[in-house]
Amino acid sequence: MDDLLGKGAVVTGGGGGIGLATGRILAREGMSVVLADVNEDRLASAVDTCLADGLDIRGKVTDVSDLDSTRALAQFAYDELGGVHVLHLNAGIGAMASLTNDDITGWEQAVGVNYFGVVWGIKAFVPRMLEMGDAGVVIATSSGAGIEGTAFEQPAYASTKAAVLTVMESLHGQLAGTALRAAVLCPPLTATNLAGDPAYMPIVEDMLRAKGVPAALTQPEQVAELVIDGIRNDRFFIRVDESRSKELFDGIVTPEFLQWNERMIRGRAEAQLTDGAPDGYLW
Ligand SMILES: NC(=O)c1ccc[n+]([C@@H]2O[C@H](COP(=O)([O-])OP(=O)(O)OC[C@H]3O[C@@H](n4cnc5c(N)ncnc54)[C@H](O)[C@@H]3O)[C@@H](O)[C@H]2O)c1
Repeated sequence: MDDLLGKGAVVTGGGGGIGLATGRILAREGMSVVLADVNEDRLASAVDTCLADGLDIRGKVTDVSDLDSTRALAQFAYDELGGVHVLHLNAGIGAMASLTNDDITGWEQAVGVNYFGVVWGIKAFVPRMLEMGDAGVVIATSSGAGIEGTAFEQPAYASTKAAVLTVMESLHGQLAGTALRAAVLCPPLTATNLAGDPAYMPIVEDMLRAKGVPAALTQPEQVAELVIDGIRNDRFFIRVDESRSKELFDGIVTPEFLQWNERMIRGRAEAQLTDGAPDGYLW
């Protein structure tokens, strides 16, 4: 999809991090953008900085885990923009939740935001996008922690992110023959608020490295460039490879990480084909 000028875009989780950077780059490409976020203050200050930069962006407070709230977002977007051509279902939470203690809140939040946030987004927007008949793309943000290998110490995060891939594969199949397509964003480790503050992400990077994951910390603006590259090249999997690392990430995503990542992906497939255990792709 090449022609973004004058078209409409909606990005959830747009109050900061990857969502805000993506909203900004889409607006710089000439799109009219709605940023949606549950955090009213963060959203307001994000929109203010965008408007100060002359970008065509507005905000809508939305809880993506709530279908009515998401339907209200869709109504707002169609009223404000006239049409939606890029829908980025990106809102997500780190979701620390245990498999063995009695607490179920963390699980409910993880499923609500990371999983239903995508499903409700599809329900609220896709019928209208199909009815309009224009070319468009629905992108959901997943994570390598769920779709490539498994971050087994974060089962709520990893399993909801794995489910996002399956939902988007299903959507891809169901959109065949229409002007719409589906895509999945798999960001590398990125300095955002996901762990509470971007300043904590180098600590997360160190923790991952200590566990043998050769993680490399990237910036949200670089991930936003990856999203644009994915939209322009009609990719289903929007992820970093060697050439995109060089071109879009200044090589920050190292060959060491890419090789590790490939081992995870192949390890999962090989374990299934050889009756193997998951040990080779848990991280
Ligand atoms: N940062 C990383 O390293 C990384 C890696 C892989 C995947 N991701 C994914 O990228 C996406 C964006 O996260 P980020 O890293 O920019 O983190 P972030 O915390 O900076 O941004 C997420 C945004 O989602 C919003 N949000 C949370 N719950 C919401 C809800 N119920 N409704 C609407 N908005 C809600 C938050 O307020 C926040 O502004 C997430 O889905 C995350 O899982 C991030």
